[in-house]
Amino acid sequence: IHISSNDASVKRVGDFLSKRLSFVMGHNMPVSNISMKQSENNSIRLSLIKDATIGDEGYKLNVTKNGISISANKPAGLFYGMQTLFQLMPKEVEETKFTKDIKWEVPVCNVTDYPRFGWRGLMFDVSRHFFTKDEVKEFIDQMVKYKYNLLHLHLTDDEGWRIEIKGLPRLTEVGAWNVKKVGYFGTFSPPTPYEPRTYGGFYTQDDIRELVKYAQDRFVNILPEIDVPGHSLAAVVSYPELSCTPGADKYHVRSGEEIMDWSHGQPPVALVDNTLCPANEKVYEFLDKVMTQVAQLFPFPYIHVGGDECPKNFWEKSDSIKALMQREGLKNMDEVQSYFEKRLEKIVESKGKKFMGWDEILQGGLAPSATVMSWRGMAGGIEAAKMKHDVVMSPTDYAYLDYMQGDPVIEPHVYATLRLKKAYQFEPVPDSVDPKYILGGQANLWTEQVYNMRHMEYMVWPRAMAISEAVWSPKDKRNWNDFAGRVETQFPRFDEAEVKYAPSMYDPIFTSSRVDSNHIKIELSTEINGLDIYYSFDNSFPDNFYPKYTSPLIPPEDAVMLKVITYRNGKPIGRMISMPIKEMEKRADENK
Ligand code: ACM
Repeated sequence: IHISSNDASVKRVGDFLSKRLSFVMGHNMPVSNISMKQSENNSIRLSLIKDATIGDEGYKLNVTKNGISISANKPAGLFYGMQTLFQLMPKEVEETKFTKDIKWEVPVCNVTDYPRFGWRGLMFDVSRHFFTKDEVKEFIDQMVKYKYNLLHLHLTDDEGWRIEIKGLPRLTEVGAWNVKKVGYFGTFSPPTPYEPRTYGGFYTQDDIRELVKYAQDRFVNILPEIDVPGHSLAAVVSYPELSCTPGADKYHVRSGEEIMDWSHGQPPVALVDNTLCPANEKVYEFLDKVMTQVAQLFPFPYIHVGGDECPKNFWEKSDSIKALMQREGLKNMDEVQSYFEKRLEKIVESKGKKFMGWDEILQGGLAPSATVMSWRGMAGGIEAAKMKHDVVMSPTDYAYLDYMQGDPVIEPHVYATLRLKKAYQFEPVPDSVDPKYILGGQANLWTEQVYNMRHMEYMVWPRAMAISEAVWSPKDKRNWNDFAGRVETQFPRFDEAEVKYAPSMYDPIFTSSRVDSNHIKIELSTEINGLDIYYSFDNSFPDNFYPKYTSPLIPPEDAVMLKVITYRNGKPIGRMISMPIKEMEKRADENK
């Protein structure tokens, strides 16, 4: 490995390359710093060049019979060129222990590659379930393989405050801990006073500095999110004086019991007041302290302040809010939140940072310099861009990685579905806006139902590949069938790396409709081409000796279960799915 630069970041990329290749090849692959003239042959060369076409993160990768060259304007480009080189190598480049001698071939090729957007984000919710510093590092290692450059850490929520703030010790002594429960999150029985509050954790400021450095070394920025004024129960429990509501000192950090009524739509009606009080000066003193330290810890120019799903029903009952409205001439609760956001914007800006929030910050009037992260579809992002504000698109419809990726009868239960094919249709720039306001896009992994790293991986991959292509590749180069094939080439690499992924794209899609009052019709289809579906109605396990699906099925009179499995080229590839006929009837009637 030859580098021809004294730049420390170039050296670091060389070291990453050396470390991985030495490990999988079973012998040392040293890095030497020599002039390019000497290093034509039998080497991998990393060099900085000047090329206006590839920008700050693009690269050129040239593989000939004599050697490999990666060149870029900036070290980040070399890093991404290295990721592509790994993808061109045998899958064993991902292995976690040295297994055997491999023929290390790379196809002769000439690649020019650069990203469409500078903001290529993945959000990791470390509040609903705490993930350790080392687990966050592992998350970063996985995301950079697909050239993500931004890690949005959702650091605070009703279920936990995850960042040490000096001078506010209760945030992490009290606010970081709840009771471990399993089942369907949101419906857990409220913990009794006797159940230990020992589940959770937080990052010390040293941990944060270590994570920031780890990310920076891999050309990843960390965007911190402090989610206020809603989603703030952990802060309220730690410092009840931040609430408008008497009795907040009796609250507990949420363990997944019901605290909101969602039956009326947005915003939710809170059963306990999980908000900071916009009418309380102590809240702004608190936020000033928090933002001062957050700004010092994270070098990224933005601080994300949440702003989503803030219930207003307790504010409506508060005398101090009524007095604030009168004093400030605020006409409704949206304007109360907007008042809060504008004051918070000043605090964030006083720390030298840019102010960013979820699209709810538009309601009641957008703070003058705000950047909007659009999650309730693209509408908020479109509205903000039309007002000449910067926008990051992360709509639920395409980019929510907490949603199920296949049929609810087989996937772990979540309230909505986002299949890989739909995620791949993510297009961050709507026709109606000036593209210069769209900084990019990101996918969000909320972790209410994600308890561990294996399931994190299952939820993120392969959908994060779809989003990564939406934010990296030119729009006109995207092609679902081609992508689906390329996704499959990655799976054996995930197996080598011992990283889990969802095989949901191999499972059939079930659709049912009513034929008459006694009969339904079931249609089966697949996300990807080339799969055969075999089925049974007799409760036994179908295989390729069973009937093959060719046209819509009418379940026999007393059938209770449709079992299906997909095959490709005579080999099972999907999972065995048992679909109750009753479930198909229910869906047929709901869809009417
Ligand atoms: C969100 O999903 N509540 C931003």
